[in-house]
Amino acid sequence: MRFTVAIDGPAAAGKGTISRAVADRFGFAHLDTGALYRAVGVKGGDPVDAARGLTPEDLARADLRTLEAGQAASRVAVIPEVRQALLDFQRGFARREGGAVLDGRDIGTVICPEAEVKLFVTASPEVRAHRRWLEVGGDERQVLAEVRERDARDMNRADAPLRPAADAMVLDTSEMTIEEAVAAAVAQIERLRG
Ligand code: CDP
Repeated sequence: MRFTVAIDGPAAAGKGTISRAVADRFGFAHLDTGALYRAVGVKGGDPVDAARGLTPEDLARADLRTLEAGQAASRVAVIPEVRQALLDFQRGFARREGGAVLDGRDIGTVICPEAEVKLFVTASPEVRAHRRWLEVGGDERQVLAEVRERDARDMNRADAPLRPAADAMVLDTSEMTIEEAVAAAVAQIERLRG
């Protein structure tokens, strides 16, 4: 059985939490595609070489979730050769046997346009910055500035810009608890799974 759930959206919208919950609920494998770009961003050296030679150790680094890694990720993510180097792995994962959930920016538009379920998870920049600040600490205004800067870069790049697929369900989680957001995602998957 091949069944792909594509979960896209801007920084700190709750994609990761929803994806993990959905994967658990349906027994699907989960790929956090942002971790690939974060690993390339923090590796240093030539980003194209880093993307082509990404190892499991690169993906296990403890510093991938920092604000700096997020910024580094969005800077290397504008490079078409970096995106190209990560494409086949993501496509293979999406169509693996047993079902898969992938979260990122371009899953429903570029990586797996044929995904059976597409969700675009979003929330206001302030709400997203607050959630990310609870995770990483520091100065909340700086976290908000970082979120806005990364969103602008992700939405305005030429290759695979962040935008909802035409057939995605948009889930605005600004006023939702995580339980409500997960329930909405699960309901949509059940509807489309038949
Ligand atoms: O967790 P958060 O939403 O803050 O970020 P992430 O999903 O870990 O992604 C980090 C960065 O990687 C994003 O800001 C994008 O620039 C890039 N990215 C991408 O271009 N395409 C993807 N499929 C996933 C991430």
